[in-house]
Amino acid sequence: MTNGQRRHTGSHDSTCESPALAAWAGELFACPNCVQRLEVRTPTTSQPSGFYCKSCGATYPVQRGILAFETGEEYAASFGRQWTRYEVIRPEEDLEVFKTKTGVDPEELGGLTVLDAGCGSGRYSRVVAEHGARVVGVDKSRAVEKAAAVCRAYPDVVFARADLLALPFLDATFDFVFSIGVIHHTSAPRLAFGQLARVVKPGGRLAVWVYRRNTWMQERINQALRGVTVRMDPQQLEQLCWALAVVGGIPVVRRTLNKLVNFSSHPDFELRVCDNFDWYACRYQFHYTEEDLLGWFREEGFSELRLLKPQKSGPFYDWAYRHNLLIGSGVNVIGRKD
Ligand SMILES: C[S@@+](CC[C@H](N)C(=O)[O-])C[C@H]1O[C@@H](n2cnc3c(N)ncnc32)[C@H](O)[C@@H]1O
Repeated sequence: MTNGQRRHTGSHDSTCESPALAAWAGELFACPNCVQRLEVRTPTTSQPSGFYCKSCGATYPVQRGILAFETGEEYAASFGRQWTRYEVIRPEEDLEVFKTKTGVDPEELGGLTVLDAGCGSGRYSRVVAEHGARVVGVDKSRAVEKAAAVCRAYPDVVFARADLLALPFLDATFDFVFSIGVIHHTSAPRLAFGQLARVVKPGGRLAVWVYRRNTWMQERINQALRGVTVRMDPQQLEQLCWALAVVGGIPVVRRTLNKLVNFSSHPDFELRVCDNFDWYACRYQFHYTEEDLLGWFREEGFSELRLLKPQKSGPFYDWAYRHNLLIGSGVNVIGRKD
């Protein structure tokens, strides 16, 4: 562990209160309806612990240490399933992916207040927490329960189940906001981006990774396939994802076939199944160009924009990436709020 890295020596209070929620997180949260600061609600025999809004009277319970907001249209159940079913934490890989997809070394984040927007299983919240930041992880699905378990050892982490389209935070709250592979899965990605931008402090940074738009033909094939898979029974789809994970382990086949049909070629079989399910089960999946994402950053008043390069490289890979041929690859930008 480095100087900034911290671990909790005990465990969180099993009755439900996260110590960080009681200590500092209440200062950050806002009512998603009226964006007013929330007040802590002292638990009584008839009311569980939680927060309430003085302005509109809405109440938000804390359930097993997780602050629960309304999550809007229900479309994230497939993510709840995948993140609670597969073990995806790979500490060394997670650290490298975090650095690549945010452009930030977590060593820089000690003592800062950081939002992991769409935290899923909490693999990147864990990386940041380990380096001494105060972390809030938010997700629409029950994946937050897994994330809370993954980060149990770290004192300064809290999780909320909430919708990115109505983020429950005061304006200009976070020093750093990152969102890896999330906003393209919401029903309104541009709106979600605006919410992320809203909660970054002036001078703070925002890093976003979204799916890259592929060639016209690849996009059409993918839309046709996903038109079928999103309607499949999850158990049947999982079988298909296993079969694709087998294909993803065959070197020659995967290099050619995955330019037409997406499947994971991660070296780890369990991650391949999870990645495949991630791609084929979710209701919303939008793809973007570099110009799209850079434009959103500019529109929201960010500068010092940097397009981040993928982790892999090589002559063929770089060529295919530049020509938008790599299905499942990203468009990735970090910027600073003016
Ligand atoms: C592909 S996963 C990425 C998770 C995590 N960032 C990671 O890379 O491991 C996308 C996550 O976005 C969450 N999500 C989708 N729509 C959301 C919304 N409107 N508000 C909050 N989270 C949302 C899903 O529940 C899911 O956990």
